[in-house]
Amino acid sequence: MADARVTGLRGIEFGVYDLNESAEFYKKAWALEEVSRNGSTLYMRASGKEHHILTLHEQPRAGLVAVNFSAPDRYAVDSLHAKAKANACDVVSAPHELAKEMGGGYGFEVRTPEGQLLRIANNVAQHSGVIADNSRPTVLNHVVLNAVDSDAQMKFFFDVLGFKFSDCNGFMNFIRCSANHHSIAFAKANGPCLNHAAFEMHDFNGLMAGVGRMRMADQEVGWGIGKHAGPGRNIFAYFVDPNGFTIEYTTEVDQVDDNYESHQGEYWQSQPLSPCAWAGNKTVPKDWLRHSMSGAMIEERNAKCEDIMAKNRAAAE
Ligand SMILES: [Fe+2]
Repeated sequence: MADARVTGLRGIEFGVYDLNESAEFYKKAWALEEVSRNGSTLYMRASGKEHHILTLHEQPRAGLVAVNFSAPDRYAVDSLHAKAKANACDVVSAPHELAKEMGGGYGFEVRTPEGQLLRIANNVAQHSGVIADNSRPTVLNHVVLNAVDSDAQMKFFFDVLGFKFSDCNGFMNFIRCSANHHSIAFAKANGPCLNHAAFEMHDFNGLMAGVGRMRMADQEVGWGIGKHAGPGRNIFAYFVDPNGFTIEYTTEVDQVDDNYESHQGEYWQSQPLSPCAWAGNKTVPKDWLRHSMSGAMIEERNAKCEDIMAKNRAAAE
């Protein structure tokens, strides 16, 4: 049981205000493809074989709904569930067969110490082939969570899910469950929420083609195009989706193994041209992107929607 671990990031689930508006954006501008739908929930694939990497749930409040991970086999799913129980985690469901529209498989749900729902599954269906278009995202590469208590969050991911520490740049901790330098990172913040989700592009040309498609769709780059001089050293371009989520196209993320040497903030901040390996501090996030990454953009819109709904209810009474 102690050796069971999560071995990959599969996808992310967003609560969105308007399913059709978000689906249009993620199809036409972000270049994902719908694979299945169940009422107000829609599943979208990337160009890789993963059944789906993005799930959209229409709901009154936008927000992060869940992050999906893979486990190597059925035994690992059972073992991870047992470990979560033994560690007194907030286990939402016992292992069970997953719905067909989700690609099936066998999995369970558990919450992190700061409340994010994680779905951990094995044997989810894969597509028989990839989509041969390098301008489209291939997989979900990483998810960054704003965290009040990064240490508590990391302890859960290490002790229960078997993640390993990769790096700290002074204000973010990066952890991994595969060869990717990080699948999850925690940014120090006042409240838990999504910071951003990064979608991997096949290569630099593919990333530039994706950025071009977003520009043609009148979507402005909020940060980039750049290359992090910090942990992961990946190439990036950040945008904001119609709900206020920060989304990233990324490529060339460092691939690491058990010999990887971790570093702390001093090391990373002293890297040449930090924070952007190409343009130093000339490539920084726009204010509106920082606003989105903090989660405030979505929270302000949620508050506005609730205010309108309350007024409508009062008017109807
Ligand atoms: Fe990122």
